[in-house]
Amino acid sequence: MLVNDTRAYHETKPGHLDTETTFSMLFTANYDRTKTGNSYGIILAHEAYAKRFAGLAVVPRNIHVVTLGPGLGWSDGDFLCELDRIGQDFECTAIDIAPNLIENSLLRELMSKGAPIKYVQADAQEIRDVLDDESVDIFIANEMVGDLLTLDEIEPELLTCDPGKLGSLTPHHDHVRKLRRMIAQHGIPVDPAQRLAYNLGGIQLVEDLGSIMRPKSLAFVSEHSCEQPRLVYNGHSLYFIEPERIPNPYTFGDAEDNHVEYTTRFSDLEIVAKSVGFGCERGRLVDFIGIRDDTMTIPSFVLEELMDARGILASDFVTRVVEPNQHLFPEYATNLQFANMYILEHPEILKQALGMTEAEYGEEIEPRSMPAKQHHGRFEYLIMTKPFL
Ligand SMILES: C[S@@+](CC[C@H](N)C(=O)[O-])C[C@H]1O[C@@H](n2cnc3c(N)ncnc32)[C@H](O)[C@@H]1O
Repeated sequence: MLVNDTRAYHETKPGHLDTETTFSMLFTANYDRTKTGNSYGIILAHEAYAKRFAGLAVVPRNIHVVTLGPGLGWSDGDFLCELDRIGQDFECTAIDIAPNLIENSLLRELMSKGAPIKYVQADAQEIRDVLDDESVDIFIANEMVGDLLTLDEIEPELLTCDPGKLGSLTPHHDHVRKLRRMIAQHGIPVDPAQRLAYNLGGIQLVEDLGSIMRPKSLAFVSEHSCEQPRLVYNGHSLYFIEPERIPNPYTFGDAEDNHVEYTTRFSDLEIVAKSVGFGCERGRLVDFIGIRDDTMTIPSFVLEELMDARGILASDFVTRVVEPNQHLFPEYATNLQFANMYILEHPEILKQALGMTEAEYGEEIEPRSMPAKQHHGRFEYLIMTKPFL
């Protein structure tokens, strides 16, 4: 069994997100790639507001918003500003494990202008030490549950043996005991024939939400999913294969300084959410955002193959193409990149970068491109709503 624990990495990581480009960074303010022209944070604020307050005779005052792992605060900043704009007063607790991200977050700018935001440096796994029971109205954990403690390649015997034997079978018996308790309590499926991975931290977070959320509250979680069809490429064309439902590890960073994140089995989170009393809505993040139909993309792995064939180093792409053209991307240089897809927004740049003629571009790039809304990006969201008691 493997234990993926990123906490030490995050506690010392630099104050930027390295190669981790999140949806919230791609869909920033006044950006017309979404159907509404709204940013990710604003879309989230409208959805949360509609679902949280629809049908209430009196809108509650001073709601408690919690954001877990806000990182650089791109979406949460927009989210809070939009709540303010529509006249909803709030207090916000922002919880992050990374002191250097807390230092560099856009939320600090809002705090300096008087926004009622309090930062707490803490581990998600200790969230109940920070938040009282039934104290939160809106909770956001955007693209962070994949960082949480994951147990991988669990020998099926560890889940079925006599609990007294666990100590002799694995040094990580405490984690396994906890997982076994969760599986039994919530009815999470196990497969006796496979060594599966479980997002222990994510499951614990949803359990904890069951306690800390108020009646008629809303929690939003999004992340890389292992339950969406996967896009593959056979050298000529792109096609989807069915998901295996087994969380995969991804490494972010370079050889010396990196961390591993796992894709998430959202069905486990949904089972636990329902078991602790939430109503659930689950879907693809691209649908939630409402990405424009004409946003065309090419998978980065296909583009890299095309570059390879032309002797162009993929690592040079950012320095040679993205950075010098920052002025074309009003908000953020990595707008070119969309969850492992490159958005084909500026074909002239790509043609130039790949040394392609118009005809070559038409023959090589266009057949390998597809609308972003069709590409799953393998991101999902889960909205958990707590009814009135
Ligand atoms: C990929 S970033 C996402 C940032 C932001 N939510 C966004 O969508 O742009 C993951 C964030 O989760 C935080 N994080 C990772 N592990 C954590 C933990 N155990 N407890 C609290 N925060 C954690 C990281 O420091 C980082 O801010």
